[in-house]
Amino acid sequence: MRSSTLIKTPEEIARIRKAGRILARVLKACAEAIEPNRTTGAELNALAERLVLEMGGFPAFKGYRLYPAALCVSINETIVHGLPDNRVLREGDLVSLDMGVFYEGYCADAALTVAVGRVDYPRKRLMRVTEEAFYEALKVAQAGNTIGDIGAAIQGYVEQFGFRPAHGLAGHGVGRYVHEPPEVPNEGEPGEGPRLQPGMVLAIEPMIVMGKPDVAVAEDGWAIITADRQPASHYEHTIVITENGAEILTVE
Ligand code: MF3
Ligand code: CO
Repeated sequence: MRSSTLIKTPEEIARIRKAGRILARVLKACAEAIEPNRTTGAELNALAERLVLEMGGFPAFKGYRLYPAALCVSINETIVHGLPDNRVLREGDLVSLDMGVFYEGYCADAALTVAVGRVDYPRKRLMRVTEEAFYEALKVAQAGNTIGDIGAAIQGYVEQFGFRPAHGLAGHGVGRYVHEPPEVPNEGEPGEGPRLQPGMVLAIEPMIVMGKPDVAVAEDGWAIITADRQPASHYEHTIVITENGAEILTVE
């Protein structure tokens, strides 16, 4: 692929930022709507879809690769791509909310993990370290560095706490489509992989596990779970590489 196809113009970036602003508002509203032992994933999905349409956006995951919902709701051992259903979110659960939004033809992708009520210390720590790993990656997301620098930053950070990136799951380019090149692995070697350039728009998304890093696909064919059923955490923003660092596009 020619590098020009990976580089967005300022006009394109402005549209992705608008999509990102809507997305940030929707995710925040969904996170705040969770009532322990009451709210279901299906209710959050309905809320997310209603809000995104009200704000003039469109749910990017719905229909993508035949995914049937606006929101991914991934509970405990589900790492990503959990299908929202009528299960109640229980006190002590870790729940990842992941969504893509199209606005004026451009798309942003973000996720966060929410603690449902009071959550035990190891799970809280997993959540915090996953979020911090994203910000470690952001520090090295600079023109001239490489995709491998991002993966190495995430892996190196979480391993200090005894956690691991889930195997085989990666971030990605984003903007015109939900998934674009390049892949942005959560592990790797510094200096390896494609070089980062101003105008590249990337979804950086640490998917971190407490136990073994092996993954499996659940019976519904969508949810990606930890093979050992230990908890996972997920945190994601869409960012743009600028002349002097990077900027998060999925913020209010
Ligand atoms: N954020 C998800 C990812 O990067 C995209 C979900 S795709 C869907 O893999 F098919 F689940 F919608
Ligand atoms: Co993504």
